[in-house]
Amino acid sequence: MIPVTPLANERPSALATEISERLNAAIREHLLSAFAPDNSKTLRSFSAPETAELLGVSGQFMRKVHAEGTLPEPEDIRGGRRYYTAQEIWDAREVLEKTSRKKGRYMPRRFGEEKLQIWQLMNFKGGSSKSTTSVHLAHYFALRGYRVLALDLDPQGSLTSMCGISPEIEFDGLTVYDAIRYDDPVSMAEVVVPTYFPGLSVAPSRLMLSEFETESAVHSNPDQPFFTRIRNALAQVEDDFDIVLMDSPPQLGFLTIAGMAAASSLIVPLTPSMLDVSSTAQFLELAGAYMGVIEDAGATLQYDFFKFLITRDEPTDVPSQQLTSFMRALFQDRVMSATALKSTAISDATMLKQSIYEVVRSEMTRATYDRAKGSMDAVGLEVETMVHQSWGRK
Ligand SMILES: Nc1ncnc2c1ncn2[C@@H]1O[C@H](COP(=O)(O)OP(=O)(O)O)[C@@H](O)[C@H]1O
Ligand SMILES: [Mg+2]
Repeated sequence: MIPVTPLANERPSALATEISERLNAAIREHLLSAFAPDNSKTLRSFSAPETAELLGVSGQFMRKVHAEGTLPEPEDIRGGRRYYTAQEIWDAREVLEKTSRKKGRYMPRRFGEEKLQIWQLMNFKGGSSKSTTSVHLAHYFALRGYRVLALDLDPQGSLTSMCGISPEIEFDGLTVYDAIRYDDPVSMAEVVVPTYFPGLSVAPSRLMLSEFETESAVHSNPDQPFFTRIRNALAQVEDDFDIVLMDSPPQLGFLTIAGMAAASSLIVPLTPSMLDVSSTAQFLELAGAYMGVIEDAGATLQYDFFKFLITRDEPTDVPSQQLTSFMRALFQDRVMSATALKSTAISDATMLKQSIYEVVRSEMTRATYDRAKGSMDAVGLEVETMVHQSWGRK
């Protein structure tokens, strides 16, 4: 039981602080132990069929490379079945790549002139699945052998906590703020931390990041204006990654705009509801105006892709399908073909700070799981195809 004593403060400022302290302590003591007993996330293992699918090979091929000894056996074999950790899959890519005639067949990461991909998810409507989409794309790419950076631009830190860092409890540790602040910034390399998920690193956020909004409003450093700061920070870690997935706060402030100035492609996630569609129109009107302002101030904005993604799609809901059709009719291929289906598998997973990729299929209703994962895979594949186009690959 949580012992309840009356709140002591009446002054709003002190009261808010007291409530936040009490809430944080309660989260630490009660919720975290319930949700993550050892307080750190770990990633499940993957069955042989899942592993074959991720590597893009057949089960027969896997058995062959194991039998030949080309590929070491995974540590975990139960009842004759192989289970692979994500790290073992990652390592398998390296081994198989050496045997492959086609460069990038197993290790698809960028090479040569291929530029770092910086994809920003933005929309000022809260609940449009920005964070959910960011983490699913991050996991999709990491599982397929890309070096991924999840960059959290939302001071609320949803993406950060999905990456296994709880902004509620870990108050120390550097955040994106430290790399982009005006006063004595640190290198982005110090901010970026690897996660429990092989291939995925995170540039974390917490409430402190909102200081950037305040400081940017008063700061005028003509050499390093606000819209250059994320781009410059990313340049410091450029060589370590293939793709950056940038989650945005639900507003069009300095952080979102500085993100836009760094991005190489944009995705505007959008739920098919009248309210969302009209607020997205306002968002883009405002975004267009700000893009103009920073372009006049010397920023060059150039996007390989600028797409809408329909999220929380409900194929059986007539009004939402009408809105989806309306968007497709208006904007054609600017609306991604794949949609993120609304699914309890997704909402249940995110409750536990997981993506659908972290959930074990047998722990859910299979049809529900398959539908949700199929939809997220389709979204991921469409983005991956665009990434390859940006790189000039066929
Ligand atoms: N495809 C989906 N199916 C079901 N629930 C979803 C889906 N995508 C997002 N949600 C839920 O909607 C809520 C808002 O999503 P979130 O990604 O946090 O939005 P945003 O970051 O745009 O504010 C979350 O509770 C999440 O679990
Ligand atoms: Mg969010």
